[in-house]
Amino acid sequence: MIINGKNPLSGEIKVSGAKNSAVALIPTAVLAKTKTVIYNVPEISDIEYLIQIMEMLNCKIEHKDETLYIDSSNLINKPIPEELSVQMRASYYYMGALLAKFHRVEISFPGGCNIGARPIYIHIKGFEELGAKVEIIKNRYIITAEKLVGKKIYFDFPSVGATINVMLAAMGAEGTTVIENAAMEPEIVNVASFLMNMGAKIRGAGTKKIEIEGNNNLDNGIIEVFPDRIEAGTYVIIGALLGSPLKINGVIKEHIEALLMKLKEIGVEYTLVKDSVIVNKCENIKPTNIKTLVFPGFPTDLQQPMTTLLTQAQGKSIVEETLYENRFQNTYDLNNMGALTSIISMSKLEIDGPRVLKGKNVIARDLRGGASLLIAGLIAEGVTKIDNCEVILRGYGDVVNKLNSAGAKIEIIE
Ligand code: EPZ
Repeated sequence: MIINGKNPLSGEIKVSGAKNSAVALIPTAVLAKTKTVIYNVPEISDIEYLIQIMEMLNCKIEHKDETLYIDSSNLINKPIPEELSVQMRASYYYMGALLAKFHRVEISFPGGCNIGARPIYIHIKGFEELGAKVEIIKNRYIITAEKLVGKKIYFDFPSVGATINVMLAAMGAEGTTVIENAAMEPEIVNVASFLMNMGAKIRGAGTKKIEIEGNNNLDNGIIEVFPDRIEAGTYVIIGALLGSPLKINGVIKEHIEALLMKLKEIGVEYTLVKDSVIVNKCENIKPTNIKTLVFPGFPTDLQQPMTTLLTQAQGKSIVEETLYENRFQNTYDLNNMGALTSIISMSKLEIDGPRVLKGKNVIARDLRGGASLLIAGLIAEGVTKIDNCEVILRGYGDVVNKLNSAGAKIEIIE
């Protein structure tokens, strides 16, 4: 990705469907007896891989105008091979879905950004609590159950993936499952709404306690993917640096409240008009401290984009990353561009500003780290070249056209 920096950005950018909702909604569709429809699906590579898995399971899928028409009438349970499961972390949602549907699932280890160990013991423990047996043979999970029986499950940590995965598995259990200390991210509400639209009885999605009635007669679900709160937040951050002004359309402001509060605190001015955010370049950004937390706290996925913004603040900021153990990899490349950041402990980064950034050849090492380098390239003097930019395209659909239509100068060369 080649970026010519320092172009003011104005006009409108439309937020696409949320990656982290869509990648859970597609595996959820296997629970339907026949047809489901998923609207507002983002155009990103993860979706293509999930469609390949669905077709491998003998689902019929039509993908038209950001909508998926899925027919799982002739679903066949098959082992999910490594070349597909390793493409993303979210392939693990087939565990809960196929366990519920067939009481058996075989799948190779999931992939995902290398931002930490990312174990899935909370998912596994949840399946075992419901009565499943989990074996790990080489790099494959084999999960089987004679019977799944609902019960109260307490999560050591409010894991987003485990909450969705155990909610899916609980659909195949007899009786009621209660998840205590559940994650509250909007993605969970999106999936629960889809299941309820298929006839499921679920209470408390979006809170710390979720009650799920087992149900083997789910069918005919229709759902719309929420707007992507992380994509929206990333463009709002870009607007705070280059907006003249930039209007971001299709935002659920409750989903980015923590970011908006923080931006107001550091002096960024924005206006909220219906489902849009209009933001202007902030000439005098104050330093601040940020601690990433589970929803509704400051989202870890916006930590790296926010770090780039803070390289322009008038003074020292501290960012504490509490969700992942390796989510500062973008700082090597940011410092190479002239930023002044230093990792002062396993989870703490210090950012000194303001610093002039200069275009350099850098590498995107993970999705949101890549986004932080894209933002750096937009504000840097000269030309920035980002290698491995595919990782950015995984989470930001049509990002080059969206930004160029607002005045950026970005191109992708093979
Ligand atoms: C989802 O990952 C998102 N990915 C992540 O977004 C996001 O950062 C994360 O939620 C937190 O919001 C998808 O939805 C596909 P977790 P997930 O389980 O479900 C540890 C992006 O950039 N943990 O809440 O994997 C885990 O290692 C991606 O879009 C365990 O230790 O997140 C991590 O440190 C990156 N054991 C922390 O909890 C478990 O069994 C949060 O993980 C499960 C998780």
